[in-house]
Amino acid sequence: MTGYPRIVVSPPGPKAKKIIELDREWSSPSYIKEYPLAMAGGKGAMVADVDGNRYIDWMAGIAVSCTGYNHPKVVAAVREAAGKFLHICGTDFFYEPMARLCERLAKLAPGPRSLIAPGDRAKGERPTPGPSKKRVFLTNSGTEAVEGAVKLARYHTKRPYLIAFQGAFHGRTYASISLSASKNKYRAGFGPLLPGVFHLPYDDPYRRRPGEALEAAENFFHSMVSPEEVAAVVMEPILGEGGYVLPRPEFLRYWRTLCDEHGILLIFDEIQSGMGRTGKWWACEHFGAEPDVLLTAKGLGSGMPIGAIVAGESVMTWPRGSHGTTFGGNPVCCAAALATIDLVEQELLTNARMMGGRLLKGLRRLQDKHAAIGDVRGLGLMIGIELVKDRKTKEPHPRLAHDLEQLTFTKGLLLLSCGRSAIRVAPPLVLNAYDVDTGLAILDRCLAELGA
Ligand SMILES: Cc1ncc(COP(=O)(O)O)c(C=O)c1O
Repeated sequence: MTGYPRIVVSPPGPKAKKIIELDREWSSPSYIKEYPLAMAGGKGAMVADVDGNRYIDWMAGIAVSCTGYNHPKVVAAVREAAGKFLHICGTDFFYEPMARLCERLAKLAPGPRSLIAPGDRAKGERPTPGPSKKRVFLTNSGTEAVEGAVKLARYHTKRPYLIAFQGAFHGRTYASISLSASKNKYRAGFGPLLPGVFHLPYDDPYRRRPGEALEAAENFFHSMVSPEEVAAVVMEPILGEGGYVLPRPEFLRYWRTLCDEHGILLIFDEIQSGMGRTGKWWACEHFGAEPDVLLTAKGLGSGMPIGAIVAGESVMTWPRGSHGTTFGGNPVCCAAALATIDLVEQELLTNARMMGGRLLKGLRRLQDKHAAIGDVRGLGLMIGIELVKDRKTKEPHPRLAHDLEQLTFTKGLLLLSCGRSAIRVAPPLVLNAYDVDTGLAILDRCLAELGA
């Protein structure tokens, strides 16, 4: 589809203003509302607002709408499922879409990992290579997957401590926010948070020297906590909200080895980076490290609320009734997820790689032209643009990230910032060459206008 972006009235237009007014009167003041977009519809990577403006979408409703906003195959699956029954509760009863989705996800998840009991490890046993059977718990959201994974890790290992990373974001409920350390406003005023959570440096090739994050981990285990007391390491293989940071592969492999040696569960939160966004099913596949527990949500349902905890059968040992959910694995959401998985498998993995390559090249050309772009990094359609005041000092430029996001919106390109001063590029995986090239042209003009 072409013929957009099209700005017929400077946003927010009169219809958007009415909706915004109503929302501001009655909705919780905790919502962010990044810019005044009032959506009316969408198609592919195009978003239309209520006043007739059309935008190129490079943010997919925070990395969610991977098949676009109303892919006919997803909509048909949703319609068909909704016409049968809306709910029965998968915790207590059976239905085919739930069983099928569990099977699909179990087979898609990476991981040869079957944990070795500490006694056997002492005898020199190591996890056997080759895929292990997985089991799946379906949730309503990313944060519910994180909460469940923390419970599973503590239940399974009978250990108290959790390790997470500076810059991490895992959600808004108590375990998730306790694990998160991307912005203090997410935590401020909500304490005390979950005890027993430690945050260690995340590897950042742009800002940290090689080995720095690993030395910090060594020091931590030497001085603070015995690894034998750690239940789980919870990690995003690529930092999302924390700045779209791609660690060095050694970083993930270090933690994989350490977890193997000490019977710690390695939990990869692929809620933002998974479901084909990076051109492979899971971002961790680029790094040569596999988790014991994989978390997914966001793109899984193409926007319908669903997430999952996927773990090796030897890890998902919690007994009947120990964990459940009323809505998680809702039949309509399962149908959307099954249709989404088909589309990702058949078309979108390839498209994410192709369009991701085109986008990365284009953004690197912009980096050559605009001094404020300090770094461009990414895999597939998960790309971070880091804005700095000075390339030598690498001082973050949060004001520019904010102004750029606001300005591109008025010119027909939807972006979202992340980290201290990065722009995340996380478009629908159905993005085409027109969306890439036209978006790059808008970005170029806006950077120039802001004197970047
Ligand atoms: C990596 C990661 N984990 C967890 C979450 C929380 O997901 P949800 O907002 O669906 O609860 C997010 C949301 O942005 C995320 O990016």
